[in-house]
Amino acid sequence: MSPIYLDPSQPIEERVADLLGRLTLEEKISLVHGDSKFTTPAIPRLGIPERWFSDGPHGVREDTGPHTWTSMGRTDDFCTAMPVLIALAATWDTDLARSYGEVIGSEARKRGKQVLIGPGVNIQRTPLGGRNFEYLGEDPWLASRIAVNDIQGIQSQGVAACAKHFAGNNQEQDRMTVSVELDERTLREIYLPAFKAAVVEGGVLSVMGAYNRFRGVYCCENDYLLNHILKGEWGFQGLVVSDWDGAHHTEGCVLHGLDLEMGTELPYDQFYLATPFLEGIRRGEFPVAVLDEKVRRNLRQMFAVGAFDSPGLAGAINTRQHQAMARKVAAEAMVLLKNEDQILPLDPHAIKSVAVIGENAVRRQCHLGGSARLKAFYEVTALEGIVRRIGPMANVTFSQGYSSGSPGDAPDADTLIASAVRAAGTADVAIVVAGLNLARAVDLAAVTGPNRNALFDAEEADRKDLKLPFGQDELIRSVVAANPRTIVVLVSAGAVEMGSWLDRVPAVLLAWYAGMEGGNALASILFGDANPSGKLPCTFPKKLSDSPAHALAAYPGNDGIETYAEGLLVGYRWFDTKEVEPLFPFGYGLSYTSFAYSDLRIAPDIAAAAGPAFSVEFTVANSGACPGAETAQLYVRALRPSMPRPFKELKGFQKVFLQPGEKRTVSIPLKAEAFSFYDPARGAWVAEAGDYVIMVGSSSRDIRLESPVHLDRTTVED
Ligand code: BGC
Repeated sequence: MSPIYLDPSQPIEERVADLLGRLTLEEKISLVHGDSKFTTPAIPRLGIPERWFSDGPHGVREDTGPHTWTSMGRTDDFCTAMPVLIALAATWDTDLARSYGEVIGSEARKRGKQVLIGPGVNIQRTPLGGRNFEYLGEDPWLASRIAVNDIQGIQSQGVAACAKHFAGNNQEQDRMTVSVELDERTLREIYLPAFKAAVVEGGVLSVMGAYNRFRGVYCCENDYLLNHILKGEWGFQGLVVSDWDGAHHTEGCVLHGLDLEMGTELPYDQFYLATPFLEGIRRGEFPVAVLDEKVRRNLRQMFAVGAFDSPGLAGAINTRQHQAMARKVAAEAMVLLKNEDQILPLDPHAIKSVAVIGENAVRRQCHLGGSARLKAFYEVTALEGIVRRIGPMANVTFSQGYSSGSPGDAPDADTLIASAVRAAGTADVAIVVAGLNLARAVDLAAVTGPNRNALFDAEEADRKDLKLPFGQDELIRSVVAANPRTIVVLVSAGAVEMGSWLDRVPAVLLAWYAGMEGGNALASILFGDANPSGKLPCTFPKKLSDSPAHALAAYPGNDGIETYAEGLLVGYRWFDTKEVEPLFPFGYGLSYTSFAYSDLRIAPDIAAAAGPAFSVEFTVANSGACPGAETAQLYVRALRPSMPRPFKELKGFQKVFLQPGEKRTVSIPLKAEAFSFYDPARGAWVAEAGDYVIMVGSSSRDIRLESPVHLDRTTVED
């Protein structure tokens, strides 16, 4: 008779208990630390397979190692490179987030990975954050909704997702040492909700501890975060894995909630959870029960992805369907920031010549960025996408325009600008593809001279400022002076300063890092095959000092401590409450059509079991001439709260796709949590009796409908 743990019809807990009972002490220890960069070892006598982890958030990384970060040089580890996570957040499309997760999960499964290390759900605290591209923006509600769906998509494919980096990892500067200090209310209201949603709603099977310290203690050894909140309050039953080299002491790792140690400096048997742990048990310093609990969590993750059951899901790599999904997400993510006189979309039949300008029109980005780097199966650049779309009908030229650091014999900036201006001056339209790079300057081998220290969107370093590097501001000003029909396409994970040219340029489109189908998606937006519907998941400030952490000089910390002085007022919460005018507000994004909002109705939800509950209904109509999608956003504002609150907060949204003239009733449920704040004195969420305003709009600064609502009594929830 086969043992219980090999019987797929048995409940997972029974299988875990049975297998745990068969393991020797040494075998158990082998399951709580890595034996290569991305694996834990097989235990053949029990049929336990080698377990593979893989980055990352927007595609399955190439295989590296086994003992270094060097590529293995395989030919079968190309992936579908999806747009980065901040772009996914910009779609505001929860169904799409699920499909996105399905693509990555399916590719991870095909590649034999048990754990796909993503999504990153840290809140964007500063626009300088080097890993903002790997995260889901500045708002906890938006980040939660996208994360839950992405996770469920990944895990539907028989692969464990891994929400990271828990918690307070909101900057790259000093990330290995900095201690993040923030008040309890801010922790609960801003920085934890996406993790909590990942666990409680998403059912995420693993969580990665962050590198930084939280209130003085390393996150991977942080009893409060891991044992108290994650496992205690939220009831997380899955696996807590360290960030790679994020473990620091045996006792802290053993006792404070870490279940698996990865990436520590070699040798493997000297990892904190290897021989030092084993010897500690033998000396009686640590109870075996602590090890058993860690092993149980590791095994639970393995059983949950069917690691002992065959054949299971097959997965697939680089299918047409995956590629189509990469393109769809890219197109839905792009944010139209400006479109004066409807210069976009361009009419492909009327345009005879296009001057494409800017290094980012030809730069491939997917293979850069740090641990999120991908070996894309292919990557369609902006220039290629444009040529494919209109090449047969129009003359397309390319000028580099600026250089991110070419070797000495490259033309200087003036020469590059002069030739771009010449091309622009004789073309029907100029398209400047500008922005940042998904890299640190040191990753760009060719970068020399002053640009060498320029930092962009990449792991391990934050940006230094919000300026466009490499003389791009001057390039844009010169090009638009030569041709007023100039469109600027920005490739970036977020805000850049535009003050010196924005009022001269008729159209600006934010493309993000759009993945391997980015060029095709871009062309479809530029030439009107697709209608832009992305909305900003983060505020674009006019200047860095307008954004909260910088206004308060609360970044990057002093003497190893980073105090989040702005508290709850992150992103639009700050701009709204302090009445600071942003360059582009949170939730903003234009369309080629227009939308009308009407008929706001708020009804008590009598079906709700407990606490206040409302059903908010309103109508959105496509009042323009082409099909399009609108994300209707619902914000709640508390009038006269007993504790200070941000001016308003996002508590619901829905994206609707409408034909011209079509209208749809949108219904958004609001429960107690939509009105609640965290009261540290009670250690609970309080939805206070009193008056509130429900605001419905097209962005955080374009509220179209408002209605008061009253809560009769206060409710308190843990
Ligand atoms: C990053 C993680 C990543 C890990 C493994 C670390 O440096 O912070 O996000 O998953 O490396 O590559």
